[in-house]
Amino acid sequence: MKAGTALEQAAANYDDVFDASFERILGMGAYNPGFISDFYADFLAASPFVRERFAHTDMSAQRTMLHDSLLMLLEFNRTRSPGTHLRRLAEVHSRRGQDIPPEFYDLWLESLVKAVAMHDPEFSPDVELAWRLALAPGITFMGFCY
Ligand code: HEM
Repeated sequence: MKAGTALEQAAANYDDVFDASFERILGMGAYNPGFISDFYADFLAASPFVRERFAHTDMSAQRTMLHDSLLMLLEFNRTRSPGTHLRRLAEVHSRRGQDIPPEFYDLWLESLVKAVAMHDPEFSPDVELAWRLALAPGITFMGFCY
């Protein structure tokens, strides 16, 4: 195990670690254009499949939607009950819609974690794990609806 990894440290409450990082990047849920556009630059560069799927998309509209969908994933983490919007988002990405195989959500999450690293001045292994844990349930839900 590398020095300074999450497992070596005293147990953190990852919900608290997440909330503090979220607040630093998207304080009170405010839109952070730099964070969102750095995420998309990395995500589009991650795979030709991703670039091809977004070839005809208005990316400025997409950026605003990402912010809202992030909140949907986080709400699902809190409530464990998928609301209308998350169910619709899962349907849009499923075989019936954009046909995004679940393994591509890994690329999405890697790009998001990189954007968090760039935009959270207090980024650390615990912060990274906190984001992965907070988003995992919503991503699992979306992939399961494929
Ligand atoms: C958890 C991860 C993801 C979230 C939260 C997310 C979020 C969104 C949102 C909010 C929309 C707009 C839906 C609408 O109202 O029509 C959308 C559309 C779309 N997403 Fe995702 N997405 C995710 C993963 C992916 C992945 C991995 C791909 C792979 C390429 C992808 C490709 C697309 C495409 C092609 C569209 C349609 C764009 C258009 O309307 O032209 N998404 N996504």
